[in-house]
Amino acid sequence: MWAASVTVALLLSTNVAFAQTFKRLGGCPRLGCVFPPDQTDFLVGQYFDIRLEVHAPVNGTETANGGVPDEKFTFCVQRGKGACTDAAKFFGVKEPALEKWSFSYFEDLFAQDAGASTAVNVASKAYRGLRLTTPGTYQAKLKYYSGSETVANWIVREPAKKRKAKNVLLFIGDGMTQAMITAARLIAHKSVNGRYQSLMQMDQMDYLGHQMTHSLDSFITDSANSATSLYTGKKASVGALNVYADSSPNSFDDAKIETIAQLFRRVIGGPIGMVSTAVIADATPAALCAHTRDRNQFPQIIQEYLDGASSVNSTFNWPTSCDGPDVVFGGGAENFIAGPKSPGGADYYKVFQAKGYNVVYNNKELQKVATDKKTLGIFSKSNMAKWIDRNVYPQNLLNQKNSPTGDGTDAVDQPGLKEMTLKAIDILQTRQKKKNTGWFMMSEAASIDKMMHALDYDRALGELLELDDTIRATIAHLKKIGEYENTLIVVTADHGHGFDVYGNADTTYLAAQTDDRKKRNAIGVYENAGLSGYTVAEGSLPTNDTVVYGSEGANFPVQWNPRYAYAAGFGANPDHREGYAVNQKGPRVPATKGSTGENEVNPVDQASGFIVNGTLPVSQGQGVHSLQDVSVFANGPGGKAFRGVYNNIDIFFKIADALGLGSK
Ligand SMILES: *[C@@H]1O[C@H](CO)[C@@H](O)[C@H](O)[C@H]1NC(C)=O
Ligand SMILES: *[C@@H]1O[C@H](CO)[C@@H](O)[C@H](O)[C@H]1NC(C)=O
Ligand SMILES: *[C@@H]1O[C@H](CO)[C@@H](O)[C@H](O)[C@H]1NC(C)=O
Ligand SMILES: *[C@@H]1O[C@H](CO)[C@@H](O)[C@H](O)[C@H]1NC(C)=O
Repeated sequence: MWAASVTVALLLSTNVAFAQTFKRLGGCPRLGCVFPPDQTDFLVGQYFDIRLEVHAPVNGTETANGGVPDEKFTFCVQRGKGACTDAAKFFGVKEPALEKWSFSYFEDLFAQDAGASTAVNVASKAYRGLRLTTPGTYQAKLKYYSGSETVANWIVREPAKKRKAKNVLLFIGDGMTQAMITAARLIAHKSVNGRYQSLMQMDQMDYLGHQMTHSLDSFITDSANSATSLYTGKKASVGALNVYADSSPNSFDDAKIETIAQLFRRVIGGPIGMVSTAVIADATPAALCAHTRDRNQFPQIIQEYLDGASSVNSTFNWPTSCDGPDVVFGGGAENFIAGPKSPGGADYYKVFQAKGYNVVYNNKELQKVATDKKTLGIFSKSNMAKWIDRNVYPQNLLNQKNSPTGDGTDAVDQPGLKEMTLKAIDILQTRQKKKNTGWFMMSEAASIDKMMHALDYDRALGELLELDDTIRATIAHLKKIGEYENTLIVVTADHGHGFDVYGNADTTYLAAQTDDRKKRNAIGVYENAGLSGYTVAEGSLPTNDTVVYGSEGANFPVQWNPRYAYAAGFGANPDHREGYAVNQKGPRVPATKGSTGENEVNPVDQASGFIVNGTLPVSQGQGVHSLQDVSVFANGPGGKAFRGVYNNIDIFFKIADALGLGSK
């Protein structure tokens, strides 16, 4: 009887086209699941959990055992060609208890339209807090339904034993692609007869590579699973932070993986820093320290920063944590102010203070704060203000009622990425002195991504130029304090967006036309693209009909709303209107929900433009991430290893090598 259904299952699993859109469980195309799955690489000694699942679909196209999952499954692990040993014995842990639950899913869009979900019963076990301390190849074998087997091939990589870099500074331009860097260069750096007279700092880094961002179970990634890959060396599923997404309802019981920040804390004992222009519980900073299947669990994520994953649910012992990063700078005050969005409703500023943190709320306090203590800097509710709004349109900072203290005033004195990063370096530098441990920091230009989602290209490029300015200032600062030669600087992104520039648009002509097709004639392509209208050409000055600009300074555009604006488009967009003009009143909202609940053109966005029909499901009101590889720039000790084309998980292993994490 069983042999027959197993054969069916095997046939189906070689032809899983039906599982493209909706998967029973990502990363597990079989009825038996092993997490970490096949093709996983570990760092020697890195902590991880194992989650096993045996599925019994009750109905749908692939039923099993009358909907009763095999509870007698076995699981063994072998190193090299050795004998496969029962996993509890192999790892020297207690046999875990059997867990059971059910879930349901839609097999495809037809099933969803019909409301016909497939029910699945599950038998499962989880092994917690494991390590593999001998390098080499391993096989983990799950046997179930008398004859079925799921095999995971694992490699335990040994990092370099000799430490090259004392400090590691990882810059992430969230969503940043080479097309955006090129566009930012165009608007901020002058060219004469086709030759740039100055370059981006990123253009001047010593080593350049490309990383592939493909996630565990989808070729498009989000910021949670991509950050998981960058910091743990493991592929993961969309939305997951440092865990393998399982099918259970609990977001905190999934198999966890130790991160580079936790390793730096545990193995080297040095200070770690987390800086972002986003809500500080957002995915890219969160993935340094938090473990959850659901990146939106902001209060628990903040709690994990201070007290580790075990504090969220002590059932799942997790032996390693960031133990309160030494620097936590960003937005998202709503998760600290006592109330429904803070952990346990507590005043989390006070909780941090009780753990020895200095707390600052604006740039003035940031500049003044001493460098000897751990420091929490929360500068606004929600995501922090964008560079353009702080520097060119400061009136947009008013009437936001986003003060981080929660007193209802406006957060008008917010630091930029540069101010936060330079101060963070000083604090980390002071705090590592006693033991000369060096430090680890991640600094994220988060709103390149957030503004690209909103198709607000100008704001996104402003954030990108601020990142570049931050890298430039960081290099100068590290030289000044004598740490440049000791510091590995890596600049990369987590994923891309399908953005590119294809010409110039005469915004004056465009606005003067009433017909959509005529408006499109305002776009100059090829030779009619002309030259950048954002930088001052030799012998000309900005005219007085342009914006009154503030403190942009070198390496930023001289003006943001020239008559001849760059014409850019997006590979994946909702219905919207395009007029190529800077959004002077604040971040763009390209589409809004109409009476039908579907996203339609926002009637007040780019009012002089023409309609561009969307390429996305009407449920999407913003642009989405895209497939392309992203660049990796590196300077300093260990930087050479970042040349070439590799996977996002390799960034973790390259950093581990630079830190010589194999020496202990
Ligand atoms: C599976 O069974 C449930 C409960 O009877 C039903 O609601 C659902 O539509 C079924 N799904 C399929 C794919 O047949
Ligand atoms: C911890 O996880 C267990 C198992 O999923 C669950 O039953 C329990 O409610 C969780 N505890 C908390 C505090 O969330
Ligand atoms: C530019 O316009 C502003 C505002 O209308 C005005 O105050 C300023 O004097 C003008 N500057 C020049 C150089 O004409
Ligand atoms: C194009 O966009 C307009 C405005 O939102 C909308 O009414 C129309 O249905 C769209 N066409 C398609 C094919 O989606």
